[in-house]
Order: sequence, then C-alpha cells, then structure tokens
Amino acid sequence: MAYEVLARKWRPQQFQDVVGQEHVIQTLSRAIQTGRVAHAYLFVGPRGTGKTTTARLLAKALNCMKRGKSPDPCDDCDSCREIVAGNSLDVIEIDGASNNNVEQVRELRDNVRYAPARGPCKIYIIDEVHMLSPGAFNALLKTLEEPPAHVKFLLATTDVHKVPATILSRCQRFDLRRIGLKEIVGRLREIAVAEKWKVSEAALLAIARGAEGGLRDAESALDQIVSFQGEKIEEADVLGVFGLVSWTTLDRLATAVLKGDSAVALKIVAELDEGGRDLQRLVQELLGHFRNVLVWKHAPELADSFDLTAAQLDGLKAQAALADGEKLLRVVEILTEAASQARFALSRRTVVEVALLKAARAATVVSLDELIAQIQNGSADEDAPASSAVSPSSPARAAAPPPPASKGHSPKDELAHLKSRWPSLLAVIGETAQLAAPLLKEAEPLRVEGEHVTLGFDPEFGEHLKRVDTTRTRMAIEKAIGHELKRPIGVKFVLEDRPQAEVDAETRAETPPPAKPAAAGPKAPKGAAAKRNLAEDPIVKKTMEEFGGELFDIRE
Ligand SMILES: Nc1ncnc2c1ncn2[C@@H]1O[C@H](COP(=O)(O)OP(=O)(O)OP(=O)(O)O)[C@@H](O)[C@H]1O
Ligand SMILES: [Mg+2]
Ligand SMILES: [Zn+2]
Repeated sequence: MAYEVLARKWRPQQFQDVVGQEHVIQTLSRAIQTGRVAHAYLFVGPRGTGKTTTARLLAKALNCMKRGKSPDPCDDCDSCREIVAGNSLDVIEIDGASNNNVEQVRELRDNVRYAPARGPCKIYIIDEVHMLSPGAFNALLKTLEEPPAHVKFLLATTDVHKVPATILSRCQRFDLRRIGLKEIVGRLREIAVAEKWKVSEAALLAIARGAEGGLRDAESALDQIVSFQGEKIEEADVLGVFGLVSWTTLDRLATAVLKGDSAVALKIVAELDEGGRDLQRLVQELLGHFRNVLVWKHAPELADSFDLTAAQLDGLKAQAALADGEKLLRVVEILTEAASQARFALSRRTVVEVALLKAARAATVVSLDELIAQIQNGSADEDAPASSAVSPSSPARAAAPPPPASKGHSPKDELAHLKSRWPSLLAVIGETAQLAAPLLKEAEPLRVEGEHVTLGFDPEFGEHLKRVDTTRTRMAIEKAIGHELKRPIGVKFVLEDRPQAEVDAETRAETPPPAKPAAAGPKAPKGAAAKRNLAEDPIVKKTMEEFGGELFDIRE
C-alpha cells in the first residue's frame, strides 16, 4: 500500500478527534443536534489548524444516513464513505486559489439549483475563499444571499481581511486558534505510540515548538524526521531540522541575562550561531519566555495559559525571583526592539549580542527607587541584588558588611555589637549626614535600654553634641543603628561623664520646645544664654540643621 502522509492519515473523522478547537466543535455539534445549521459558515484561522477538517466533518455529519442523536457521523454509511474518499456528488470542494474567476462561480450558481444526489444537503466547501476575484465574489454573493434550502456553503480562509464585508455578513464565522504546545505534544505522542515510534518527550516538545501552533506542520515535521532519522527520535534530531534552540539553552540564557552574566550569555550566542541556529527565532523565543516570567510575577494565576511543562514552569519561577517587575519590563522592551531589528539586520548575531548585553545590564542595574531605599536604610548591602553596573556602595560599606544582628536582644550583647561596629556605622551615617559623621567620632554607644541607645560624648566635645543633635542626623543614626539591631531604635545624646538624670534635668530646664541639645557643658562660652535663645529660633535652627552649621557669634 502506498505510504499515506501522517497529516492525511490522521485527519480527524469524528468531532472529538479535533484538537484544540473546542469552542467551534461545541457550537457546531449543538447546531447539528438541534437542526439549526446555518446555510453559510466561514472558518477563519492559521494554516493547518483544522479549517478544512472541520468543514468536511460538518458536511459528513449533515449528510450521514445513519447518524443518531449524536452529532458525529457514522463513517460507515455510503454517504460517509464517499465523502471520506472524496468522490461524493453532494459535497463539492472548490479551491478558491485555482477556481477564482467569474465563470467558475457562475457555473456553481447554476448547479446549486439541482437537488442533491443522495443526502439531504448539497454542500459547497470553498477553501482559500479570499483568493476569489472581485467578479467571483459578486457572483457568489447572489447565491449566498438566498440559497435553496438544501444548499450549504462552508468557506475557509487564512486571510479574512481579504474577504469582502458583504460575504462576511452573510456567514456565521468561526475563528480557529493556533493549537497549544501541550495539545500538539499530546497529539504527536498519540501518533508516535500508534505508529510504534520511539520519540522522546523533549523531541515531541521541540517539534511542537517548531510548528508554531499548526498541527499539520507538526505532523509533517514528525513525518519528515522519521523518514530521515529512523523511528527513534531525540531532541537534538529535531532541533537541527528546525534550527531551534533547546529549552535548556534558552533557560540558561535567560538566567544569565537576569544575573547580569554577560560573558555566559555571549558564549551561548556564539555556540548557537556556530551551530547554525536561527538567531531571530532565538530572540523571539527568549522574548516569549521573559514575557511569561513577567506575567508570572504579576499574575501567577495565569500560569495555566503558559503552555509549559511542569519542569519548565519551575525554571521560570526561579527566574522570576531574580529580578523585579520593573527590570523585567525593561528586558522585555529591549528584546522586543531587538526582535524587530533582527528581521532586517545584516548581522543578526550583533543585534542579538547587543540586546543581550543591554538586557543583562537592565536586569541588574540598581534602580533609583532602590537607591533611595538603600540610602534611607542607611545601608545598601542588604536585599538589593549585587550590581555590577551602577553600584553606589562606598568602599567603607563594601569593606564592612554588617554581621548578623544580635538575636537575643540582650542589651549587653547589643551594646558590645554596636561598639565593635561603630566605625562602620559612622561610614553609613556619613552618607546621609556628611558633616555630622566626623563629629560622631568623638562619641560612643554607652547604653542600650529598651528602645533607646544612648550615645555619650566626651565632655570636652560638648559643642559637638549640640551640632550633632539635629533631626536629620538623629534620623540617620537611628536608621543605621536600627538596621544593625534589626529593630526600631531612638537615640539619646549625653555627655559621657555625667549621669543621664542630670543631663535630662538640664534639658528640661532649657527654654522652649523640643530643645534636646542638652549640655551647655562646663566649658560653655560666655553669652551662652543669648546664643541658646537664638539657637531655638526656628529659622536659625533649620539653617543649622540643613547645613550642619554652628552658631558661632552674634552680631547686631
Ligand atoms: N485541530 C486539529 N485537530 C486534529 N488534527 C488537525 C487539526 N488541525 C489540523 N490537523 C491535522 O492537519 C491536517 C490538515 O488540517 P486542515 O486541512 O484541516 O488544516 P487547514 O486549517 O484547512 O489548513 P490550510 O489553511 O492550510 O488549508 C489534518 O489532516 C490533521 O491531520
Ligand atoms: Mg484547508
Ligand atoms: Zn454515515
């Protein structure tokens, strides 16, 4: 027996065998069962997704002589057999591409009047209907408008935009969709099992990816590869045929980009290019991949629509943890641009390489928001991903990452911890309160009490204490210490020699509002009262705060 190509051999003969077009099949089945079949249908969709198949199935069901309650044709009666064999007088298939002139459609129109030979219906299937000439469309229109009761028109097209609106409005339209990866894999597996071929899962997946939603293409590819490779197929056999990149490589490349590992990314591209892989396709697949990562990040409940296997989904989730939404968005933008450039570029490889470098940078660069957050936290070396591109970290910080904070909240431990960390903390504080940092060198953590840390100044540096006790500096210190101890902290300043009570008393005795700056100290200069009064003036206070200044002299 002559070899029958897979696509033909595996053309669905029953509604339930049609893959991935449930919405169409359901509506049609119901129409058949209820006897409400329209007189004209238009099937729209990409190549090899089941348009002709569905039209033939419908024709068979309408004319089946033994069909019971179910919508499916019996495939056994004379009518069914004739239709399957393609020699039924009642089902007339016309190829729009080759029978597109007025004469041919007129002939059709004349024949329409004659009653069907066997079944209840005379069915015209016009494939590629968009190829008809304008004259032919006109002639068809007249018939479509008021066909005899026994006539059905089943039109199919891959290019619905070329079908005149007058025709569209006279048909019930069905849109067939691209068939999902999982569905294609399922169908190919079924075929491979039935044919007794050994095709690995990865190979099935690769064929499905290469087919881009068309089942006929997938089946033809399987046919081709088997005739070329024999009946045992591995992923590598398929990748070569399609110029595809393996899923693992795609995964590795995406991870390299998100980690900012440009060298790895470039090496992978070099290997792929030398292996003759389709780099434009690579960009597109990478783009689709990052799009999925992005969607997963924002709406994980949509993961079902991803058309991925469980293992692939795991890889994707791991990548989602590597970058935030903003960065992913930027990566997707860069690749979108590259995908359109790659189409026309003389050197695809260059376009791809530049895009990957840009993407790797975008994925790891520290954003302004992060920078602000880091400054506010008084430390950059925590959650933010290590950045090679624009790292604001100062040498002091880089040299002294904070050790794990004291867990037990023992004041003694915490104090010891703070004392040992004081020089590094000063560097961190200095980033927000530059002018205060040198002054704080003369201070030292004295006590940890509840939510407060007391910093003591040597009485000799009483003036320093005053200058340090500003809102801005206080906030910087509280942030830094709070981060260090991993809990909210307030600070108090005292002159070291004196007991806290004394300082507090003095603070309270002082003039107006929050006036913390306690210690006028034993060495307070003359005219101190006048200075103190002026120092409480809101404008003067604010100015001193902003510039870290000191009230030095008063002149009339
Ligand atoms: N939805 C589907 N379910 C099962 N098999 C399908 C489906 N779509 C396509 N096929 C397979 O592909 C072959 C071709 O399908 P069909 O002729 O229906 O495609 P088409 O949409 O009419 O394509 P074209 O636009 O190229 O005419 C079928 O014989 C079948 O083997
Ligand atoms: Mg077709
Ligand atoms: Zn039948």
